[in-house]
This record gives sequence, structure tokens and C-alpha cells, in this order.
Amino acid sequence: MTQSSISIPRELVAALKAARYVAVLTGAGVSAESGIATFRDAQTGLWARFDPRELATPSAFTRNPKLVWDWYAWRRELVAVAQPNAGHRALAALERRVPRFLLITQNVDGLHQRAESRNIVELHGNIGRVKCSREGTVVERWEGSGDAVPRCSACGALLRPDVVWFEEMLPADALEQAEAAARECDLLLIAGTSAEVYPAAALPMYARRSGATVVEINTAATALSELADYVLRGPSGVVLPALLASLATPGGSGAM
Ligand code: OAD
Repeated sequence: MTQSSISIPRELVAALKAARYVAVLTGAGVSAESGIATFRDAQTGLWARFDPRELATPSAFTRNPKLVWDWYAWRRELVAVAQPNAGHRALAALERRVPRFLLITQNVDGLHQRAESRNIVELHGNIGRVKCSREGTVVERWEGSGDAVPRCSACGALLRPDVVWFEEMLPADALEQAEAAARECDLLLIAGTSAEVYPAAALPMYARRSGATVVEINTAATALSELADYVLRGPSGVVLPALLASLATPGGSGAM
């Protein structure tokens, strides 16, 4: 699929041009073209190959901290060598063109930051950071000493990745900002998420109820496809640049 094969409805271009506040919700699909596995895609998704109950819950960490630490260390290495793709870059460029913009991501890979998006809310943490498992203090540096899981230098508790696990609460300030954006935005773009994990999956409903234009960008149908005003079917690394390029076309009410 190429950018020119994507057709963006004229009414959507007009709505995007007129929007004063654009919010975006991204998920793992946005990083798929950077070579980072999604979670739920059949065969290639992480949860098709690994059991989240053994790797992404507080009880898994209590049972086997080394297994959990090593799994995240492996993913951290994959993320470190990955590069932002055209979809990440298009979102960063879109941010520079609209009056008000918030990028809400469920991704922990930091690729939006590396693509130079600025106003970002991370709902599920960031795999590049670790924190004390007792006090939650974020630790910038740690020693990866052979077989043992590193410990907090202040209190001696084990360190853990600064990501949100199943059964855990999302960071309250991040969730608050995301919910406010969903309620206040004029247009919500939802890209590369299966929208199966709450509370992130509820954000499109808030936007919809507040009268925002809701746009889904995904390679496959999701539970949100019915709710969206527009569904752009295709890889986000192609569709998002096409959407950005459509802003350069004449027509629509110009708030740009
Ligand atoms: P999922 O793996 O559940 O969904 C990825 C979505 O991206 C699917 O709907 C795919 O169809 C779509 N997709 C795949 N490749 C794409 C591409 N190139 N362009 C556009 N769409 C594409 O990932 P998330 O929805 O992000 O949470 O999952 C949500 C949360 O569940 C994650 O943050 C993680 C996971 O468990 C935690 O770890 C807490």
C-alpha cells in the first residue's frame, strides 16, 4: 500500500483543517513498522508467544523477578535499536500544524519522543525507565550485575520496569490528562490499537459523546470501527503521512 493509494474523505480533511484541538491515541500498531511486535496480532503478537500472567503482573514479579526483569531487558534492547517510522514522524509534524495537540500513547517504547513529538502522555509508562518496586522512585542509573535483579540503592528493594502491569492502576495524572483531552478535543485520531485494554479503550467513547470527530487508523477492524466517524484502513506508516499530506490540499475551512 502506498500513500497515493489512500483516499482521505474531503469532509475529514475539512474537519482536520478546522480542528482547534486534536488528540491522538496510539497503540502498538504504530510501532509495528519500526519492527516492534504488537501484543494481540495472531502469531506475531507478544501475547501469542508469551503469557502475560507470567510476565506482566505484580504477582509474576513477586514469583519470579528475574524472569520478568530479563524479559523487559530483552524488549528494552529491541526498542533501543528500533527507529521511529513515517507514522511517528507524521504525528510529530501534525502537532506543529494544529493550534492545540495532545498525543496519548499506550506504547512504552519512547518512539514518539524520538520522532520529536512534544506534548505526550504515556498511559502505560516507559520501558526505558526503571523504578523501585517498593517506593516507586524512578531510578535513572542501575547496575545490571550478572544473575541478580538490581536493587534500589536507597532502600534495597528490587528494581522493576516503570511500566503499568495488568492489575495495576494507570498513573493518575496521565489518565486525567488523557480523559480531559478526549472530552475537550475537536478531533480524535486513534491509531494502531486494538482498543481492548481499559481505561485507554474508553477514551474514544468520551470523545464521541462530547461531539468530537473520531477517526480510526488500523490495518484491521476493531471494536472501535463501528463507533468511528471515519475508518482509514491501512498501516499507520502510510496512512498518517497521507493524512498529513491532505492538509496541503486546497479546500476545507483553514485554521492552519
Ligand atoms: P494490540 O496488539 O492489542 O493491538 C495492535 C493493533 O494495531 C491491532 O488492532 C492491529 O490490527 C493494529 N496494527 C498492527 N499493525 C499495524 C500498522 N502497521 N498500522 C496500523 N495498525 C496496525 O496493542 P495495543 O492496542 O497497543 O499493555 O495494546 C494495548 C495494551 O495491551 C498495551 O499497551 C499493553 C498490552 O497488554 C500493557 O502492557 C499494560
